[in-house]
Amino acid sequence: MTQLPGLLDTEAIRKDFPILDRTIHDGKKIVYLDNAATSQKPRQVLDALNAYYEQSNANVHRGVHVLAEEATALYEGARDKVAAFINAPSRDEVIFTKNASESLNLVANMLGWADEPYRVDAETEIVITEMEHHSNIVPWQLLSQRTGAKLKWFGITDDGRLDLSDIDEIITEKTKIVSFTLVSNIMGTVNPVEAIIRRAQEVGALVCIDASQAAPHMALDVQALQADFVAFTGHKMVGPTGIGVLWGRQELLEDLPPFLGGGEMIETVSMSSSTYAPAPHKFEAGTPPIAQAVGLGAAVDYLTAIGMDKIAAHEHAITEYAIKRLKEVEGLRIIGPATAEDRGATISFTLGDIHPHDVGQVLDELGIAVRVGHHCARPVCLRYGIPATTRASFYLYSTPAEVDALVEGLEHVRNFFG
Ligand code: ALA
Repeated sequence: MTQLPGLLDTEAIRKDFPILDRTIHDGKKIVYLDNAATSQKPRQVLDALNAYYEQSNANVHRGVHVLAEEATALYEGARDKVAAFINAPSRDEVIFTKNASESLNLVANMLGWADEPYRVDAETEIVITEMEHHSNIVPWQLLSQRTGAKLKWFGITDDGRLDLSDIDEIITEKTKIVSFTLVSNIMGTVNPVEAIIRRAQEVGALVCIDASQAAPHMALDVQALQADFVAFTGHKMVGPTGIGVLWGRQELLEDLPPFLGGGEMIETVSMSSSTYAPAPHKFEAGTPPIAQAVGLGAAVDYLTAIGMDKIAAHEHAITEYAIKRLKEVEGLRIIGPATAEDRGATISFTLGDIHPHDVGQVLDELGIAVRVGHHCARPVCLRYGIPATTRASFYLYSTPAEVDALVEGLEHVRNFFG
């Protein structure tokens, strides 16, 4: 068995994930390499979800009975866990949403409805990058269409990095918000946050970071990042679906208007007007995703017990090995950084002129799960003149043997298609 320095004890970790024992297609052990789409869930998270529904299910913040108090304590306890996980200065800065897309849409709408000095209008500019997931493009396009603000973006270099050569022309005195991904969901690129934030701060622009592909894989410290908003989702970090997070700086959350109105986000309501509860409740209208938040809290406990730095080191070792092995496959072209430096454990590639959907289907027959397509990052595919890629993405339970299985699978694909 291939041993690499920095690997976690995957034999022990994999025992926590029941699904990884599943066999498909006549007894083939599943090789799950689609972690950038969603991660698998450990028994600890499944147990927390079950225990919540079996023992404590009730609505939160509303009741005086035991179950309502327990549910509220669990829900708000999950907020404490997430706040500690990202080193937030205050638990009130952690807003629960349904996913990262909703978190990013929330920021766009807060700014769209805001008064000065945050207001986005036809005199102002919004900056994103060509490397974004659609969820960090479309909300800004919508805001730009609604307000007349100009949408600008950083391009990508041939080797899958952000092209910051014209940073002073892209981020200007007119820029209101710069929103970009910390780690690319299609190429794995880890972006140079400091350089972008430094320039944004020079011109007084706000910064929003999409950390969907970062929070599951590396220690995230919102104070060190120095952004104004950080968005991520639970299901990619061994948590359940239906729960996302938006962290925002407290003074901004106090100043900015809510997006969704409804129960629980108010202070008082009359027939003519309402006043709002303080953040985070101002941004959490209606019954929140209670069980999902509890599950996310358990996911945070699980990842913290293993250690985010150890998880990052494990993934780095796997990525280095995967890149080395993938380069041995004739006709394989990596789309994005072709070394393990400043990149995460997500690797996109093309294989000769075999369509990625065919690659994915043949791999699936071998029990290997990858994602194929444009990965909700179509501008990246357009940039490289390709319709789609095959994407393998690794996580804390991935093993060198699974990398070997992928490479053997790709050799099989090549032979299959002649
Ligand atoms: N955002 C997820 C992905 O990149 C769905 O696959």
